[in-house]
Amino acid sequence: MKVLVVGGGGREHAIIRKLKESPEITELFAAPGNGGIGYDAVRVPIGATEVEKIADWAAENGTDYVVVAPDDPLAMGLVDLLAAKGIPAFGPSAAAAQIEASKAFSKDLMKKYHIPTARYETFDQVEKARDYLRANDNWPIVIKADGLALGKGVLICEDLAQALSAVEEMMVGGKFGASGDRVVIEEFLTGPEVSVLSFTDGETVAPMVSSMDHKRALDGDKGLNTGGMGTVAPNPYYTPEIAAECMEKIFLPTVHAMNAEGRTFKGCLYFGLMLTSDGPKVIEYNCRFGDPETQVVLPLLESDLFTVMQAVTQGRLKETEVKFSSGSAACVVLASGGYPEHYEKGKAISGLEKGQLPGGEAVVYHAGTEEKEGALVTSGGRVMGVTAKGETLKEALDKAYAAAEKISFEGLHKRTDIGARALAAGK
Ligand code: AMP
Ligand code: GLY
Repeated sequence: MKVLVVGGGGREHAIIRKLKESPEITELFAAPGNGGIGYDAVRVPIGATEVEKIADWAAENGTDYVVVAPDDPLAMGLVDLLAAKGIPAFGPSAAAAQIEASKAFSKDLMKKYHIPTARYETFDQVEKARDYLRANDNWPIVIKADGLALGKGVLICEDLAQALSAVEEMMVGGKFGASGDRVVIEEFLTGPEVSVLSFTDGETVAPMVSSMDHKRALDGDKGLNTGGMGTVAPNPYYTPEIAAECMEKIFLPTVHAMNAEGRTFKGCLYFGLMLTSDGPKVIEYNCRFGDPETQVVLPLLESDLFTVMQAVTQGRLKETEVKFSSGSAACVVLASGGYPEHYEKGKAISGLEKGQLPGGEAVVYHAGTEEKEGALVTSGGRVMGVTAKGETLKEALDKAYAAAEKISFEGLHKRTDIGARALAAGK
């Protein structure tokens, strides 16, 4: 089978490395991939959002199956375009991807189907949003741009002044383009956060091992929000009891709600949860694998990923085994100094051979690397994630950090406390 993976970050590299283990796959392609991915798949020079070109390329090159990993091409309907050409693909239709692409849609869905989430109001008019904020006496409050904003469209505002300037920036200043024309203003929740990625074919939900992201740039959860500075799996706060409650009150009701709306979801449905004193609540849905959650979740998958993906596409998930190892995994992201704001690119990377550590003590998932004259250089904010597995979380973390020490480039920044909270909670 000839398989194309769309996207070019650490998540896509983790998907590709897992798919490489499948005996059914003979040829793997990545559009556009990145420098490090180039060692594991043949790169196709088409951007992930050039959806028409990707669909044409897939048809012209006899592609048997496509995995669409990022949110943008899903929201733009790449899976529908491929279906029209008779090419099966992993990922939701554009109609189902709305669960991530519009926060107003997902909040209304949860309200209509009684799925636990933060209380909220949606605003299309800035004056109404301002009036609502002026009347609010419950701070902090959370303001979210309705559309896709590279994970940066959520602001937690401590007081009225901050909140007014946030809606001003989004609704008047166009900070997130059209994504900010509409905003959701919601109640601030507290509690441990858990990411649960799941496979679903629109009927069965097979949750993957739980994980914990570290979104802030600096140690101690300080600094700006990033795309994610590291992850661990499993998440110790996510007990079997909470998992059962989530399945009953959140996972199955969400999939059934999407069916009832005529938007059957097939693919990876990501539940961003907060475990509040009032029970688990949905913070956000993503219509795709999380990044960098995938870099700790897929290494723990013992079943054949391609078999599971095809079962999702064909509606056979119920009869398909999705098994995870009982061990732990940790991923430490190596970023360019200054990320998520200003950073330099083109720095030489040392410590790797063909993109991996020569000793094989950990796996390197490339996010922002390019090949230049046969060597790898940095090309993005998050450069790579170093993932190790262990029988315990402590062992996985020690191995990941020891491996990360062997890689260097000018300005390298990493957090030194990935997994610290999980270790403390894990007993
Ligand atoms: P999102 O992009 O929706 O995942 O939001 C980014 C981050 O903002 C989440 O991971 C939470 O840490 C935080 N957040 C979002 N919504 C809320 C909320 N209602 N209460 C508290 N924190 C929130
Ligand atoms: N790590 C969070 C996300 O992928 O959106």
